Amino acid sequence: MSEIAERLAELERLGLGRRLRLISGPQGPNVLLDGKPVLLLCSNNYLGLADHPRVREAAADAAMRWGVGAGASRLVSGTMTIHGRLEERLAAFKGSEACLLFGSGYLANLGVIGALAGRGDTIFSDELNHASIVDGCRLSRAEVVIYHHRDVEHLEWSLHRHASGRDGQARRLIVTDSVFSMDGDVAPLAQLLDAAQAYGARMVVDEAHAVGNLGPDGRGAVAEAGLEGEIDVVVGTLGKALGSYGAYACASAEMVRYLINTARSLIFSTAPPPPAVAGALAALELLRERPHRVQRLRSNARVLRRALAAEGFPVADSEMQIVALIVGEERAAMRLCQEAIERGVFAQAIRPPTVPDGTSRLRLTVMASHTAAELRTAAGVLGELTRKLDLDPAAMAPAHTERRAAPEPAHAELSAHAELSAYAHEPSRAPRTAAPFDLERDGEQPAVALSALAGPSAPFDLERELAPSARAA
Ligand SMILES: Cc1ncc(COP(=O)(O)O)c(C=O)c1O
Repeated sequence: MSEIAERLAELERLGLGRRLRLISGPQGPNVLLDGKPVLLLCSNNYLGLADHPRVREAAADAAMRWGVGAGASRLVSGTMTIHGRLEERLAAFKGSEACLLFGSGYLANLGVIGALAGRGDTIFSDELNHASIVDGCRLSRAEVVIYHHRDVEHLEWSLHRHASGRDGQARRLIVTDSVFSMDGDVAPLAQLLDAAQAYGARMVVDEAHAVGNLGPDGRGAVAEAGLEGEIDVVVGTLGKALGSYGAYACASAEMVRYLINTARSLIFSTAPPPPAVAGALAALELLRERPHRVQRLRSNARVLRRALAAEGFPVADSEMQIVALIVGEERAAMRLCQEAIERGVFAQAIRPPTVPDGTSRLRLTVMASHTAAELRTAAGVLGELTRKLDLDPAAMAPAHTERRAAPEPAHAELSAHAELSAYAHEPSRAPRTAAPFDLERDGEQPAVALSALAGPSAPFDLERELAPSARAA
């Protein structure tokens, strides 16, 4: 057996094997999964914009005008007018002086963290931060101090312990998700910022899962906390609520100039493609015009949460769109996931190393495009299956609640060498059972006739968007 085959066999033995699943058609609430119709309950297309006609049309129109690829890195010839336009719009949306587009959220975190901390510096990182932050910390070569999840006291204690840098010049950086991707809980941003200011640290906040739900008009958790313009760098992705692909860092003009000069994942990677940028522009425009989508996402989250609570799951009555049902053991989580698919509900099982050991879970995500009836039915199916599999819904509390219930360890320092718990979103796993990918059939699903896509309001007009007069306005 080859070494690779052995490693794969070991993963399977541990219940950690992963395979790609195949979705046909766009990321709507109802999709074909490996050929089987299911309710999609694990997509980050929170506002239903990835498959919105105006977003599709804007992307298609941009491809026709500017081509499919940007052709070069931002610093060579890859920065096009449309990148500048989206940066202006995102800066306004996030209440910051300036904005810089990156190829993806993963790249943005690598680039921003590496620019703000290096050898001899210290990064303070929440233990449940996303894998892209974890990897940014690792790549930076800074010392990494991991503080307990959302625990400001532990952070302050850690900052105090590392109060003086080795040469007095060392930089300190606090980095956190604002909404945690695998649990759906929110970082205490105001207190974290107080701690940063008290100890002279910079702060980076990742808004990947906050935009589209929290804050006025879905502007995110930073806006919700009234901290716009106060965080050193706010990172966000275009790949979730904004329905496209790519990412951004919002900051002061000086900071953006610094990132342009130092963020390696910006400098050494091709600029985001024009269709993705145009799609995000259209999505932002839709969000501004019709903020009711945000309300719909919030009320759908409440519907799902209440329906799950009625089934006995320990789910808080909130408006957060990410819901974790902690199963614990890997194989049990996979079994529940597979049985739910058989019953027409697709909620991906998430296992280590994406989440800490012993906290494998179903991670459910609500979209504004779900109906309340669909969400209630899904909750009923999950309740029924959980009982059928002899699992106790009442024991499925979110991981951080479980950890809080355990006796607090003495404030031991979690060193840079401690194994970080979150690495990456888990790819899908089950073998494909249906017909292989069929472009013709798959192409029929979205049935995108550009002329037919104009919604009830005026279509997104890129020509108008980018006309000099519009830019000046
Ligand atoms: C908190 C967080 N940050 C960053 C990312 C990466 O964003 P992207 O998918 O644009 O690379 C993700 C998503 O996977 C995320 O959940």
